[in-house]
Amino acid sequence: MSIHSHRRANFCARVRLKSAMAASFGVCRLHFRSLGGLDRFCHGLEPQTQRRFTSTTPTIKAQTGSKTADSVKSKTFQAIQEERREQAERSVLISCPAKFSEKKFLDFLSKHGTVNKHFFYNSFGAYAVVEFSNKESIASLKESTGLPAVEHEAAVPFKSRLLSLKWPGIQSSNYPTPNFKEQSPPNIGDITKLLLQKHSVDEQLQCLTETLQLTEENISLRFLVCSLLGDIAGAYFPECIIRPFGSTVNSFGKLGCDVDMILDLDGIYARSQKKGSGLSLEYQVKTGPSERAVTQSILSVVGKCVDQFGPGCVGVQNILQARCPIVRFAHQPSGFQCDLTANNKVAMKSSELLFLCGHLDPRVRHLVFSVRCWARAHSITSSIPGAWITNFSLTVMVVFFLQQRSPAMLPTLDRLKELAGPSDKCVIEGNDCTIVSDLSKIALQKNTDTLEKLLQEFFEFYGNFPFNKASINIRKGKEQSKPEATALHIQNPFEATLNISKNVNAAQLERFVKLCQESAWLLQQKEILEPSSSQSDGSVSPWGFAALLAPSVTSGAGVKSRRKKKTEPASSRIKNLLDSLKIKGGETVAKKGSANSSR
Ligand code: GTP
Ligand code: MG
Repeated sequence: MSIHSHRRANFCARVRLKSAMAASFGVCRLHFRSLGGLDRFCHGLEPQTQRRFTSTTPTIKAQTGSKTADSVKSKTFQAIQEERREQAERSVLISCPAKFSEKKFLDFLSKHGTVNKHFFYNSFGAYAVVEFSNKESIASLKESTGLPAVEHEAAVPFKSRLLSLKWPGIQSSNYPTPNFKEQSPPNIGDITKLLLQKHSVDEQLQCLTETLQLTEENISLRFLVCSLLGDIAGAYFPECIIRPFGSTVNSFGKLGCDVDMILDLDGIYARSQKKGSGLSLEYQVKTGPSERAVTQSILSVVGKCVDQFGPGCVGVQNILQARCPIVRFAHQPSGFQCDLTANNKVAMKSSELLFLCGHLDPRVRHLVFSVRCWARAHSITSSIPGAWITNFSLTVMVVFFLQQRSPAMLPTLDRLKELAGPSDKCVIEGNDCTIVSDLSKIALQKNTDTLEKLLQEFFEFYGNFPFNKASINIRKGKEQSKPEATALHIQNPFEATLNISKNVNAAQLERFVKLCQESAWLLQQKEILEPSSSQSDGSVSPWGFAALLAPSVTSGAGVKSRRKKKTEPASSRIKNLLDSLKIKGGETVAKKGSANSSR
């Protein structure tokens, strides 16, 4: 028996046991929890800064999966990033008064050059992002901008592209309000309502991505914040560029996610210079005891500069002793939580790899968004660092699962390397990080799995994965023997000796596995896959993906509860589960209290 069929049989046996002991346990979850309950339980899905965006430019379209896939087919990851960065350099961020005339505002700005795009959003006040056609307009605008007169305090005369619009005289209340659109992610209750209006699980998962993904405006704002930060760091390193990486650019970003930034001092995308035999010049530099020490010292001064002189930057923390030293701060005008790192080229390459995966097939993004949302709803992941699985690890797990499909939905990393051209060659700190950049070179066999099937089999796959002995390796696209005794081993895609999930402890992994088993089992119940009709009180029982977001009866304490729970043997867990079920006239109903207490 192959590992897979053995694992599958093993899983099915467990599923049968569960089915026998609680034939209606899933049904009880289906019928017992109304929408209201779900909303309440999962309200804290992702504590986000409340922000609203409005685009007044009809040409700025929301980034839907398919549109994005079409628009990037001809462009490389690097070309897209460079284009966005260049747009950000031609942009300004302006705080606006409560009432103002959009027309007058634009007429005023147009004196400095053509306004290419603009949009408004709300973040404790109205803000406008304005992109000019030419960079010269920024210089002209800055020339006509004054420093504020500050009473009782003194202003740091740092002239950035974060500005305030002063409206003389009494503001008329007759100005039409610009179209401010809500841009923070909807709460789980609203998401669930949307999902319940769909007709299939596939439609639900597509809708989830469309609802949660970063919009074009949000991405522009992220690049603008990086560009503004670059101006500050430029005081020390005039040639530097601050580039976003992680979920801002890897195609898996959800509204409200943090902005991960790299301080690029030596041209991440620059070709390594070949040493000729003729004359050449070298910069004279200071040296430090190690790369890490140099990175720490650079981040420490930049962090201090951001703290003391960076307009809008608050709560600056230098977290320099971490494995990956960072400066963390909040950028108030945008509402973004920012993590600034330096000397982290590999992370940018990981972002490019995930971006490639996200654009090879739209189902990849739908599956990643749904698994991330499911994990967050069950506190498998958290925005606080700890012993839980991170979104990055979870995404790599989805990639690995999709490499295992037959036919495979995603290529291995080794295959991406084979397809690379000479200009894709990339070696970072001795690690060969080469991957093909031209998406059109990647040919895949046709896989016709539905999203419903993929989601169900994802849960089955990891509900029965031999985590105790196997490592997840997306370079080979195969399980490999675990080289060390950590609970979860996911080989770092570009640094083979490292484990990206070293932080995960056995208890968190066990919760993940149990939830996968429970969700796989739920998706095997036919009735859960079909849209349910409204009940007499108007509520609709969660079905499909919405049902998977309901609090788990079986899983123990998650991220929220740090109290150590004694691990119970499986038999007593089953007994507790049975105790939490109450049979009433042939219908099984979960005791609300016991279900709640499992959160
Ligand atoms: P969000 O949770 O939406 O922020 O997802 P994210 O992908 O941005 O994750 P996070 O902010 O935690 O990390 C940013 C990026 O850093 C990731 O996308 C990875 O490229 C990289 N990264 C994060 N954790 C690790 C890790 O443990 N090892 C390595 N090599 N890279 C990591
Ligand atoms: Mg991030």
